[in-house]
Amino acid sequence: MELKILNKEEIYTAIKDEIAMLLRRKPNAVLGLATGSSPVGVYDELIKANKAGDIDFINVTSFNLDEYLGLAPTHNQSYRYFMNEHLFNHINIDKSKTHVPSTDKNSEDYYQTYDQKIQDHGGIDFQILGIGSNGHIAFNEPGTDFNSLTHIVSLKESTIKDNSRFFASISDVPTQAVSMGLKSIMNAKKIVIIITGSNKANALKRLMSKEVTTDFPASILNKHPSVTIYADKDAASLL
Ligand code: F6R
Repeated sequence: MELKILNKEEIYTAIKDEIAMLLRRKPNAVLGLATGSSPVGVYDELIKANKAGDIDFINVTSFNLDEYLGLAPTHNQSYRYFMNEHLFNHINIDKSKTHVPSTDKNSEDYYQTYDQKIQDHGGIDFQILGIGSNGHIAFNEPGTDFNSLTHIVSLKESTIKDNSRFFASISDVPTQAVSMGLKSIMNAKKIVIIITGSNKANALKRLMSKEVTTDFPASILNKHPSVTIYADKDAASLL
């Protein structure tokens, strides 16, 4: 794993530049996308570059990591809605080529065939990740099998509490989600993980300790041949 310590603006630009370079080489590349606060700055840079004519998304396919179960795609807390709002509505991507895992058997993004679908597109060329302070990536909480593919997850009480700030009441927070597994993520050819803020300092320290354990799901990334960690000074303060 390569560690780059930059300020947030530099991180967002550097990842945008990596994607721009990939798309110049491979205009129909497959991107793996995340929600949450970490990638929003990257999405802003991608929108700017697309509007300036520097990046073309017309032939790009995307696969998102995860989605709440039981929220309609139009619900303002669904991850489909998030992606439309923060990226897809503002770039020239073909929405039919954007995928978010689903538990709907009739959906072409049905979770049991999601990994196969990714493979049918040649695999993910470039995966963007954030990390939870407990080391979760996507909705893979501590204890998740390293061999997991896209699966249904019951959310931990702590995650439900954390996420309740986005809902009218805690009882509105979905209790389950569908998430790419750790093996699904490890199948990506290149992975970047964004780790910013002092609340992520312990997570970065643990990731850098190189110990691989299911207690800390992101630690599996130590076994991937091409991972870049983009961290800011606050996150790197315990290194
Ligand atoms: C989002 C996701 C999550 C987040 C993580 C960090 O699709 O899969 O694992 O990446 O919870 O969230 P933020 O970026 O909000 O700190």
